[in-house]
Amino acid sequence: MDTLDTDIVAQLLERLHREAHAADHAHFEQVMAEIEASGQTAERWAETLLVEERAGLRPVYQGYAGHFLSVTPGYGEFLYAMARASNAVRIVEFGTSMGVSTVYLAAALRDNGGGRLIGSELEPSKVSRARGHLEAAGLSDLVEIREGDARETLADVRTALGGPIDLLLLDGAFSLYLPVLKLLEPHLRPGAVVLGENAFDPEYQAYVRDPANGYRSRTLAIDEGRGNEFSVRTK
Ligand SMILES: C[S@@+](CC[C@H](N)C(=O)[O-])C[C@H]1O[C@@H](n2cnc3c(N)ncnc32)[C@H](O)[C@@H]1O
Repeated sequence: MDTLDTDIVAQLLERLHREAHAADHAHFEQVMAEIEASGQTAERWAETLLVEERAGLRPVYQGYAGHFLSVTPGYGEFLYAMARASNAVRIVEFGTSMGVSTVYLAAALRDNGGGRLIGSELEPSKVSRARGHLEAAGLSDLVEIREGDARETLADVRTALGGPIDLLLLDGAFSLYLPVLKLLEPHLRPGAVVLGENAFDPEYQAYVRDPANGYRSRTLAIDEGRGNEFSVRTK
């Protein structure tokens, strides 16, 4: 049986998605209503967030400390499938939050025969909650979550992983996808999968969509409108 389908993992994920809905739904309904009322598009709203982040990253994400901001169940299944399809054993995650995406990826590591996932999260309270969720899923032996700014905490991942990265999930501050990708790029194995969830930054999109930079890239139809970019390292 796939680890995702074991009672312990399936029930935990069901609970976490329920808690995420309770914590986040009203807030994002309000954001969407404001976007509509102002005649803005979701892309325009993402641009506003990019500007806010560049003015001060920590205050923006401190404001989201109680929010999950997690992947949907559909995208979680996709993460699991991607990690299985690429036989990933070394995974890096930028933006762990409460660890929902991490549970899907760690479940794939278990079913791939083992491996290591290094996650990163700015908010200390989220780090301890995510660690608790991985523990509850019985997957904590596969995961290390590093507290602090990913631009610092992920700098030495190759050594810590014992080899190049098979799969990278970018799901942190919208404005840092490109800096974090460039930090980790020398450590991606040829054929590595890079998933940008909410990859709205036009500079990031332009970079991964230019084959001269060593990627083939497309926006996925999964959770359409959420800016899900799928890229493969070609070098
Ligand atoms: C969209 S949420 C991640 C959701 C998570 N991947 C999931 O699906 O469960 C983004 C998270 O990135 C964190 N974050 C933002 N900037 C960061 C940084 N520079 N380093 C590490 N984490 C960061 C935020 O605190 C927030 O919890």
